[in-house]
This record gives sequence, structure tokens and C-alpha cells, in this order.
Amino acid sequence: MSNVTPLGESLAFPAGFTWGAATAAYQIEGATDADGRGPSVWDTFSRTPGKVRGGDTGDIACDSYRRYPEDADLLRSLGLSSYRFSISWPRIFPTGAGQVNQAGLDHYKALLDTLAERGIAGAATLFHWDLPQALQDQGGWASRDIALRFADYAAVVGEALGDRVERWITVNEPLVVADLGYRTGVHAPGIADAAAAAATTHHLLLGHGLATAALRAAVPGAQVGITLNLTPVFVTPNANGSADLLERARRVADATHNGVFLEPVLFGRYPEHTPAAIRPPAALIHDGDLAAISAPIDFLGVNYYRPQHLRPGDPANLRLREYPPVPGTEEGVVEYYPDGMEQTNMDWLIDPDGLYQLLARLSKDAPGLPLYVTENGRAAEDYPNPEGKVDDLERVKFLHQHLEACARAARDGVNLAGYYVWSLLDNFEWAYGYQKRFGIIYVDFPTGRRIPKASAAFLARVASENAVPPLPAAWPV
Ligand code: FCB
Repeated sequence: MSNVTPLGESLAFPAGFTWGAATAAYQIEGATDADGRGPSVWDTFSRTPGKVRGGDTGDIACDSYRRYPEDADLLRSLGLSSYRFSISWPRIFPTGAGQVNQAGLDHYKALLDTLAERGIAGAATLFHWDLPQALQDQGGWASRDIALRFADYAAVVGEALGDRVERWITVNEPLVVADLGYRTGVHAPGIADAAAAAATTHHLLLGHGLATAALRAAVPGAQVGITLNLTPVFVTPNANGSADLLERARRVADATHNGVFLEPVLFGRYPEHTPAAIRPPAALIHDGDLAAISAPIDFLGVNYYRPQHLRPGDPANLRLREYPPVPGTEEGVVEYYPDGMEQTNMDWLIDPDGLYQLLARLSKDAPGLPLYVTENGRAAEDYPNPEGKVDDLERVKFLHQHLEACARAARDGVNLAGYYVWSLLDNFEWAYGYQKRFGIIYVDFPTGRRIPKASAAFLARVASENAVPPLPAAWPV
């Protein structure tokens, strides 16, 4: 596969390519008390002083629970054919299990019907992090029982919405839940316990497997997959360290970021190089678990934000643009930001070719499996200018470069079936609250007013042409 594209070439996407935008329930819906919804771990966490910047909560967010027809109109005006949204588990099971809340199901029926009237298909994520608080009170994902409750929830939602949903995503980014939710505690439920995090890893995967079976039983012909956030790992040898050391570090980083979720799903095993601190202990892995987890999926959802670059260095004496490597890495290796690569205001490295390399690798790991980029995007310091327009040129550049990488991957034989930008709307960015804007549509939070940004027009153009325009020789930003 070649990764060289001459300037001036416009690259087409395959016919039938899916163009979409993604959101998640807690980040956009608001209306946390409406129609019988129960509390989620993010309600509890965001109301705990010091956990979310500015004390922000999802109580109002983008008010999309009520303004969804306007959001659907915006999707249509951009010519997008699919909307990736998530279903709020505590709207369906306010107390985690037992009684189903019909009003919650009715909301998503109405959303899906509103989308369908506008010619937009729905891609529904079952778990995008808003666990019912009642289930957290019983141990959350550290407890095996939650995987069974997740399958019950999948069956109920499948029965109710199966005729309306085009594509199902069981779990969004299990790594982030295990790592930030249970290992470091900077996300809900705010637990900092390595053993709980390792258990969470296995139970999220088991939940994915059991929910997949439940959806297949409830919805004949259901298209089911999982969304993983994946991080390609690159190494740069230099005179200060051995190539073997770097290769061992690369394997540990790859197992930590990717393999620990990818290999169970694709191959039914935890990777050999998984550091002991994150590997689920054997006692938690029951007979049949890995078979359930690796039952065939119809597609893989890929969230790509940034890569990781490693080089020889001293983690005890980090230099500028160097960072500690993942735990379990031998001494003598650091993560670093290569010269000439920019970063976003999340401090995330920008590396569009990382997306190309990632897609190429997945296409080797899972030949023929359809891949969807289910999230890709960047935060920027967006604001309406005196004319009321939001000229987010950094995001236009980011999308242009990453879409070019996607088009190259498809041209080179990767079975890439669709692309969803993160996000349709500026929204509640978890522990950052409303201080980070990822939308292609600006949201004025005090009023809820939506203003499509320049990046929305850019994505609309790419979607309508089903091709990415030539990369410019120079960028305006
Ligand atoms: C991903 C999450 C998504 C959003 C983006 C910026 O990790 O899936 O909800 O917060 O990051």
C-alpha cells in the first residue's frame, strides 16, 4: 500500500459510502429528569464538586431531547445520510433492571421516525458511558452481573427499535471506561482501582458479546458491531537505544491501547504482551466468555483521534514534547510529539497519516470486515465572529487531511464503509464540561441556538461529491 498522494488529486470514496455525524446521549440530550429517566453515573459524577470543569453538568446540554427535530433538519441540510446517536440506558431502565420505562423507548422511536422522514438512517450505540446509577451501586462494570443486565437492555431496545435502527454499536470505547472511569477515576464513576479496571475490561467485552447475541435474537438481520478507540503506535529508533527495546515497548503500548480490546473481539484471546496491571485475571474469565466475545461482528467502529510515537529517552527526565510511556514499558523509552506535528487544544497530536496506517493495519487483522470511522474530529477555540459566522479553519484543515487519509485507504483496498464526524454539535465534553468544542455546529449554550460552522459546509461538500478535494499546497491556518 502506498501512502503518497500527489498534491492536486481529488480522491473519490466508494459508491454507497455512509456520511454521518455522531453524538452521545449524556453529552447532548439534557432533560435529565424528563419522562421517568433515572439517574446515571454521569449525573452523580458531574454533581460531585471538583470532578467536571466549571461544575458543568449534562442537565441541559444541547437540549437535544427536545430539540431533536431541529438537529435532524440540520443533518439533512448537510446532506448526511446517517446519524450516530446513543440510547440512554437510564431512560429505558431507570433503576437499572426490572420495569421498562415505555416513555424512554418512545422518545427514541420518535427520534428515529423524525430521522427517517428526512432520509437519514440511525446508527444506535447502546452504551456511551451513562450507566444507570442503580447498577453502579451494585458494583458497576467491575461486577460480572452488569454484563447480563446489559444483554437484557439490548434485548428490550432491539425488540422496540429493531425495525428502525440500521446499525447497532454495543459499546463505545470500552478502553476509556476501564481506564478513566475505573483506573484513574477522572471520568464517572470516579473509581481509582486497578483491579476494578481490569475486571471492567473483561465485563465490558462480555457485555458486548452477550448484547450482540441478544440483538441477533431480537432483530433478524441486525447489523451489529462495537466501537473501539484505537491508537496506532509508531517507533523512531535513534542512536540512544536498541531497536529491540523499542519494539518491545511498541508491543506493550499496542496491547494496552488496541490489542486488549481488539484481540478478544477479533480472535478470542487477550494479547500476549498485555501488561499484568491491565490484564483481566484468569479467575474472571469463565468458560465460554471468549467465544461469546469473539462471535462474528458485522463491522468494526473505529474512533481515531491521535497516534502514539515512541523513541528512546529517559522517563525520569522528560524533555520538551516528551511524555511518560504506558505502564509496563521498560526503562529507556518515552512517548514524544514529533517536530512538525501540531496538536489540538486538548493537547492531542494531529497525525492524519496515523489514520491511514491504522485502517491499513485493521484491514490486515480482519480482512474484509467493513470498517466505519465512527468518530474523528478535533476541539478548537471556536467563536462567532462579528458577522455571526464561525470560521473554524483549523477543523476544516483537520477534516480535510483525515478524510484524505480515509480516501487513500479506501483506494488502497481497505473496506472502509463510512465516516462519522465527532461531533454534530458542540456538547458536554465529559470532565472538560462545556470548555471544549468539537462540533461542526456551534451551540450557544445559554440559548441552545445552533450555528453551522465552516467545517459543516466542508463536510457537506465532501458528502455531496463523495470525494475529498485536493489537499492545498498551503493552509490558511
Ligand atoms: C471520545 C468519546 C466522545 C467524545 C470524544 C471527543 O473518546 O467517545 O464521547 O468525548 O472522545
